[in-house]
Amino acid sequence: MTQYLIAPSIVASDFLRLKEVIAACESAGADWIHVDVMDGHFVPNITMGPFLVETFKRATKLPLDVHLMIEQPERYLEAFAEAGASHLTVHVETCPHIHRTLQHIRSLGCLAGVTLNPGTPVSAIEPVLHLADLVLVMSVNPGFSGQAFLPETIQKVAEVRQLLNKIKSSAYLEVDGGIAAETLPKMKDAGANVFVAGNAVFDHPDGIEAGITALRDAINQLPSSRVREL
Ligand code: DX5
Ligand code: ZN
Repeated sequence: MTQYLIAPSIVASDFLRLKEVIAACESAGADWIHVDVMDGHFVPNITMGPFLVETFKRATKLPLDVHLMIEQPERYLEAFAEAGASHLTVHVETCPHIHRTLQHIRSLGCLAGVTLNPGTPVSAIEPVLHLADLVLVMSVNPGFSGQAFLPETIQKVAEVRQLLNKIKSSAYLEVDGGIAAETLPKMKDAGANVFVAGNAVFDHPDGIEAGITALRDAINQLPSSRVREL
């Protein structure tokens, strides 16, 4: 049976309360902590580096799912692995030697992830899917939390799912950007099994636990096609 995972995107939380925020994610049943690294070049925003990953590592036993939105990510792979990253995901747009980069990540003992912007076709990652432990489909243009979900990315998830099935890959298929109780089921139906969420968790009016519970309920809801059958 497919396991569906929730990965709160910590960048959307209140950093003055990091310890409580991480504890709340854990107690509400989050599976991974998603860490958005931005460099002000590849994306307009600047966020955090290995130092904060090391800090999170001391605060949680959950896997740290590190999403590198930076140019020349190869330069920092060792530093993030040493800091305690469990997964390192690179953008295909930033990696001219993507085979080498994914192999390098695996050699550091991390799961190797590859991702693509909404404007990049799935064909850009097809040649390296066999080297990926995780494929991340961006459902917003990366840079900020709280942006509107791009519905045209649902079809991309379906395409990636088909390609993964074709090569019998059990890689995680993760989605990131604008994921909330309303959008999650569409991505799940298309074949995603890991859901990153910033705003939906950290800006939920009833708190972090309620945000995560709402996503879990959305995962467990029947697909719309089955609802019609009943
Ligand atoms: C976007 C980041 C996301 C973001 C998600 O650049 O990669 O992880 O924080 O936030 P929401 O869920 O609010 O779109
Ligand atoms: Zn992210």
